[in-house]
Amino acid sequence: RVELARLVDGLLRTVPDFPEPGIQFRDIMPLLADADAFARVVQALADHVHGPVDLVAGMEARGFLLAAPVAAALRAGVVPVRKAGKLPGPVASQSFALEYGVAAVEVQPGTIPDGARVLVVDDVLATGGTAAATVGLLEACGATVVGLSFLVELEGLGGRALLPGRSVDSLLTLG
Ligand code: PRP
Ligand code: MG
Repeated sequence: RVELARLVDGLLRTVPDFPEPGIQFRDIMPLLADADAFARVVQALADHVHGPVDLVAGMEARGFLLAAPVAAALRAGVVPVRKAGKLPGPVASQSFALEYGVAAVEVQPGTIPDGARVLVVDDVLATGGTAAATVGLLEACGATVVGLSFLVELEGLGGRALLPGRSVDSLLTLG
C-alpha cells in the first residue's frame, strides 16, 4: 500500500500555474502511460469495495480513464457522469458551487437500475464539490453509492468533509 502510494507519487507530474495562476495541477498522464503502474492502480481502485458492485461511475473527463477499466475489472457496468449538456435525454442533473460560479454533473437515470450498487471513481479529490454532487445525483436516481475511490486526495482542500459517512479511499494523499 505504501509502495503503491510511492509509485503513484513518483509518476505524477505537478505543474505550477496550470490551467490558471496559483493552481498546482496534478498531471496523471505519465502514470496512465506506464503499463505496470496503470494495471496496479486500476486493481487497487477496484479493491476498495468488498461485496457486489453493479456499476462504476466516473466523472468527466479524467475519471472516465479510470472508471472504465475499474468497471471491467469488477465485471460491472460503467456510468459516465458528464458535464452539463453532453448527454442526450432524459438526464438527471445536479449543480454544485465552484470557486467562481456553478457547474453541473449529469447522468442518464435510465442506465441506473433502482438499488444499483455503485462505486464512484475519479482521479482527484480536491474540494469535494464534484464528488459530493455525483453522490447526490446517483442517489437521487435510486442508486446506492457503496464507496468512492480516488487516485489522489488533496487533503488540504477538505473534500472528505463533503462526503460524511461515506467510504472514501485514496491511493495517495498529498497535503
Ligand atoms: C478535476 C479532477 C476532479 C475534480 C476535483 O476535474 O479531475 O474531477 O477536478 O475537484 P473538486 O474535488 O474540487 O470538485 P476537472 O473538471 O478540473 O477536469 P477534467 O475534465 O480534466 O477531469
Ligand atoms: Mg475531473
